[in-house]
Amino acid sequence: MAGLLEGKRGIIFGALDEKSMAWKVAEKCYEQGATFTLTNAPIALRMGRINKLAEKCNTKVIGADATSIEDLENLIDDSVETLGGKLDFVLHSIGMSPNVRKKKEYTNTNYDFFQKTLDISSLSFHKVLQTAMQKDALNEWASVLALSYIAAQRVFPGYNDMADAKAVLESIARSFGYHYGFKKKVRVNTISQSPTPTTAGSGVKGFDAFFNYAEKMSPLGNASADECADFCIAMFSDLTRKVTMQNLFHDGGFSFTGVSQEIIEEMS
Ligand SMILES: NC(=O)c1ccc[n+]([C@@H]2O[C@H](COP(=O)([O-])OP(=O)(O)OC[C@H]3O[C@@H](n4cnc5c(N)ncnc54)[C@H](O)[C@@H]3O)[C@@H](O)[C@H]2O)c1
Repeated sequence: MAGLLEGKRGIIFGALDEKSMAWKVAEKCYEQGATFTLTNAPIALRMGRINKLAEKCNTKVIGADATSIEDLENLIDDSVETLGGKLDFVLHSIGMSPNVRKKKEYTNTNYDFFQKTLDISSLSFHKVLQTAMQKDALNEWASVLALSYIAAQRVFPGYNDMADAKAVLESIARSFGYHYGFKKKVRVNTISQSPTPTTAGSGVKGFDAFFNYAEKMSPLGNASADECADFCIAMFSDLTRKVTMQNLFHDGGFSFTGVSQEIIEEMS
């Protein structure tokens, strides 16, 4: 049976190591017959793990700082040339907050750091979309995804300025989805994923506690990185062509659960 992504070309941002959501997405895209390039910030490439993934997926790594238009232009040109045509999917799996890293409280923020958080975690998504649009690098019905978190809607104090970054990210998906939809029938969505034990995830203060809490609150349990990758494949495939401008919760039902019986019993 032909894979769901047979003949499709794409770019996958953000595979740092085996735990990364983007890593799992790349493995599954490959299994489903897609061809794609892998990219990450030059500093992440120095770790060298991504080359192992590239070998496995028979593809090329192109370094790009997602905040640099010049890097993104080069990435898109090189990807279209290497893959032999315009692109059908893009995964933006990028998040970083210097405030979180340096343990600055939300109410005592460093504004230079805050701007970096927004530039890396949100505006980079706009930059990817705008560069792709200006270069007319995406085919009709292409699917562009970014990964988000429910702290965009509800407060999780340890998530710090990443909450604001995710709110902006989701808004960019909505706004750009409108423009790209009318212009070229390109769909743009965010997936709001359960807490997942990755490098970015585990860096958030209190991660273990809210991972366990979400597990107990979610009727289906937390969604794993593997399950997130399955959802991304569905979103890249032709089976979801009319889904756009959405923030799609992939969280085992957490987002719509007020409280679970297990939590009630623990609190009683
Ligand atoms: N892990 C979780 O609990 C969780 C939950 C919901 C959403 N997300 C989101 O999923 C996405 C992927 O994160 P992950 O959990 O797989 O962790 P990860 O640490 O494996 O991935 C984050 C990636 O962002 C890259 N990055 C940072 N700065 C960059 C830059 N300037 N240019 C290009 N790339 C840059 C890193 O190199 C890394 O590969 C992020 O957007 C994250 O916020 C994570």
